[in-house]
Amino acid sequence: MAGGTSLVLANVDGRICALLDQCSHEEYPLSDGELEGGDLVCAYHGARFDACTGARKALPAVLPVQSFPVEVRDGDVYVDIG
Ligand code: FES
Repeated sequence: MAGGTSLVLANVDGRICALLDQCSHEEYPLSDGELEGGDLVCAYHGARFDACTGARKALPAVLPVQSFPVEVRDGDVYVDIG
């Protein structure tokens, strides 16, 4: 959680990325899914998103998921939720 916004963080080859923790298909939490390479795969119906940009990569989702800028400083993760 950050400022009341649920996030899902992913470590993609050492890069920390943050997406809204809500699938664009039926709004289930993406944090229940699995990271496959650079893709976050929704546990519920298999939609696939780029874990860093939130771009939709596979049906049944048709819309992207919001992504947020991330900065790591001294081991702490900062997410700009706007
Ligand atoms: S809720 Fe994520 S694919 Fe359906």
